[in-house]
Amino acid sequence: MTHQYKFIDVAPIAGSIGAEIKNVSLTDDFSTEVFDEITHAFHEHAVIFFRGQELTPEQHKSFSRRFGDLLEVPFVKALEGHPEILPVTRAAKETSKRNFGGLWHSDMSYAATPPLGSVLYSKVIPPVGGDTMWTNMYVAFERLSPAMKNMLEGLNAVHSPVKSYGSNGVLINNADPAHKMDIQTGEGADTEVIHPVVRIHPATGRKALYVNSTYTLRFEGMTEEESAPLLNFLFSHCVRPEFTCRFRWTPGAVAVWDNRCTQHLAMNDYQGFDRELYRTTIVGDRPIPVQK
Ligand code: SIN
Repeated sequence: MTHQYKFIDVAPIAGSIGAEIKNVSLTDDFSTEVFDEITHAFHEHAVIFFRGQELTPEQHKSFSRRFGDLLEVPFVKALEGHPEILPVTRAAKETSKRNFGGLWHSDMSYAATPPLGSVLYSKVIPPVGGDTMWTNMYVAFERLSPAMKNMLEGLNAVHSPVKSYGSNGVLINNADPAHKMDIQTGEGADTEVIHPVVRIHPATGRKALYVNSTYTLRFEGMTEEESAPLLNFLFSHCVRPEFTCRFRWTPGAVAVWDNRCTQHLAMNDYQGFDRELYRTTIVGDRPIPVQK
């Protein structure tokens, strides 16, 4: 049954994931009751959207901090004077095939304690294109067969930033002025961490798949070659269209997503136009495995 909200309007934007919240100004110092409802919607829909906001960097951080402490994202130069704000920007003249966030991923799954969520605020949006898609990793898990679920619950996977941020990483531009974002390799770019393939969400208790094609390299104890057939199946299964939503940005929109039970993808289809958004990233916990 759909939850009844008292203070906010929550309008789902797709069948499996995503809801737009209306009549809330994120600059207001809203009450705990209102924030509890926002949190409820966040847990129910996994990504929530607000439109028509006008946030200073301080207001963006202070809204984000209602969800938890903020972390500084490695490898990417932060907004001047705001180490917790990551500019996600691309200039009209940029031509690179890979944009930031342009492959399905859960933010920083390469970290030992990956982020709880992220808060992305849009300033400049192309007239067409530049949408973001999200997919629901609870539903992706639930739609597997019992035998597959059972097997995956016993597996761990190795995650690493190396393919994106290693010295030959696809996103590295070493402050090349042809790019608006400054992305450099650095300490820890080839480290590996191990996470359960199925994680229990600490707030909802639901099971979510936790692998992604950007950062997951292989299953623990197997080679990349041995892992590839099953990982590739999972990568494409996770993003079946019916598990996803697609958000058309407008300037002043805000998306808050839960990295513990979603993946997202930034579309790279706006050649010739500027796109400028700003992201905060919320500290999370070590993923909880299923106890067998
Ligand atoms: C990201 O992956 O954090 C960026 C998403 C986007 O640019 O839409």
